[in-house]
Amino acid sequence: MTSPTLFPVPEELARTAWIDEEKYESLYHLSIKDPEAFWGEQGKLVTWIKPFTKVKDVDYTGDVRIRWYYDGTLNVSANCIDRHLALRADQTAILWEGDDPKDHKHVSYSELHENVCRLANVLKKRGIKKGDRVTIYMPMIPEAAYAMLACTRIGAIHSVVFGGFSPESLVGRIQDCDSNCIITTDEGLRGGRKIPLKANVDEALTRCPSVKTCIVVKHTGGKINWVEGRDHWYHEELSQVGRDCPPVEMNAEDPLFILYTSGSTGKPKGVLHTTGGYLVYAAMTHRYVFDYHDGDIYWCTADVGWVTGHSYILYGPLANGATTVMFEGVPNYPDASRFWQVIDKHQVNTFYTAPTAIRALMREGEGPVKKTSRQSLRLLGSVGEPINPEAWLWYHRVVGDERCPIVDTWWQTETGGILISPLPGATALKPGSATKPLFGIRPEIVDANGNVLDGACEGNLCIADSWPGQMRTVYGDHKRFAATYFSAYKGKYFTGDGCRRDEDGYYWITGRVDDVINVSGHRLGTAEVESALVAHAKVAEAAVVGYPHDIKGQGIYAYVTLNAGEQPSEALRKELVNWVRKEIGPIASPDLLQFAPSLPKTRSGKIMRRILRKIAENEYGNLGDISTLADPAVVKDLIDNRMNRG
Ligand code: PRX
Repeated sequence: MTSPTLFPVPEELARTAWIDEEKYESLYHLSIKDPEAFWGEQGKLVTWIKPFTKVKDVDYTGDVRIRWYYDGTLNVSANCIDRHLALRADQTAILWEGDDPKDHKHVSYSELHENVCRLANVLKKRGIKKGDRVTIYMPMIPEAAYAMLACTRIGAIHSVVFGGFSPESLVGRIQDCDSNCIITTDEGLRGGRKIPLKANVDEALTRCPSVKTCIVVKHTGGKINWVEGRDHWYHEELSQVGRDCPPVEMNAEDPLFILYTSGSTGKPKGVLHTTGGYLVYAAMTHRYVFDYHDGDIYWCTADVGWVTGHSYILYGPLANGATTVMFEGVPNYPDASRFWQVIDKHQVNTFYTAPTAIRALMREGEGPVKKTSRQSLRLLGSVGEPINPEAWLWYHRVVGDERCPIVDTWWQTETGGILISPLPGATALKPGSATKPLFGIRPEIVDANGNVLDGACEGNLCIADSWPGQMRTVYGDHKRFAATYFSAYKGKYFTGDGCRRDEDGYYWITGRVDDVINVSGHRLGTAEVESALVAHAKVAEAAVVGYPHDIKGQGIYAYVTLNAGEQPSEALRKELVNWVRKEIGPIASPDLLQFAPSLPKTRSGKIMRRILRKIAENEYGNLGDISTLADPAVVKDLIDNRMNRG
């Protein structure tokens, strides 16, 4: 394979960035040779109440134990707010841009402080204590950030559930962590449409008796149902408490948050992150990957319901005293120029988004981009899924006017922060490659037998040693944690991703190698969609796979076998798609749904997904060995009636 064009580091950045090429090489070398020394030094990025003397205690074998900075104490909200007040009380901490282009708001660090302290006092008044789980189900409004930070102030563990998830998904996430309080909003707004968040909460809470308190932010003013004694208006509660709330001293290894994410099995798992290591890692990576300097206006377009929102809208930027933009809307409302207009309006310097958004906007042509200036932009970022070189080049040429480097950041909910990414002042870029590991990260590519491969190669991506931002456990199920991530390859963290390393040592993520699919940058387990489908009364069996999709990266392809006596029809197809939408949320709606009289199985009854994937990809000429099938005739029917003929 010929090497793609290299995009060199812009000269000015090489001079001004925190990290240039030489520094990257030497610090990377040190971080691998002496992790204790390197991470001990990085630990100073945060302010400790009691400084740590122990840096690292990690064992990837047996039960798996991961501890960082574990005799230190600190408070996350104090690090993200209080410690900046002396210098930045009046600086904008959160720059909120509403769904409606007429709405925006600057929240200064001192206003952030007051709001967070008051809400923390409300939580205390309502009996929420250190270690309690608080569910947050909110749109992208500053109150979502106050809610997260208020939890950290009193040591409660937050579990943010993306506002696009259904009541059913919310129930699962509340029950799993036995949360006793939920913070929500009357309604969300996206692209001019209202999202009935409180109504979803009402439906969910009928099955969640653990939740005694529901705090409701008035956002749209829409009409909502009210349960006396359980529901409380946010604004009324805030007005009844003081603005003084000392931060609680937390151990570095006290839990900070749970975030549910999809895996190979049906039930999403509660990824648990802890306090000290996570914050150090979020702060360090935000500073170096985005080359963050005082005064920069930084915009990450993710939702706080995903890990990107946690680490790179909230915790990383605020720990660094940044101005972080929080956007309630969508890229194409009121029109396809919105992102670029917001960049001009707020003079954004760093812009971090997902390939799916870039591909969707690319389809609209250059016009909507070119009618804006974008002169403030210095750096672009990409996250969530592999970015195809075509989209990368468009992003670079059209959005960044060939002036701005692109940091293609590879990481996961589990990793807490970015692990593989260019550093803008240090790394020459190759479109489509996440390039090089960050400090302290030891990627290894292994073959199916666990042999570590050298040089240019392709295989499964593992990480050989820990880093402070790594998840510590699956909430309530440490065995599952060890089995999911540390059993496939002994002594290594297995990412679930496939990866190629080229002759220059650059990493190219090729996508998931397990039964997880990535739809518009959202991670979904095929088993979750299958469980939803078989929960429908007319469905006997279902198998779900991903297939290449121009905009979404991967689309969802469902094969459904109906119960005896049920007839396939267009109406039923729609009904099933809507059913999944209602069970999980709109992001999980199958793009293509094929009725299959039966599914291809081995003689022992195992569904042969490899075949289903090939047919979904319209690559049915190349099915490989099908001699182990119980009934090879099944395949012909599937091919004849395939839904993807593109
Ligand atoms: O497959 C990888 C893909 O997204 C997965 C992690 O998804 P999630 O936990 O939801 O976190 C998304 C935001 C960090 C990974 O296993 N992925 C993420 N970033 C990239 C990526 N694939 C390729 N390139 C990336 N930059």
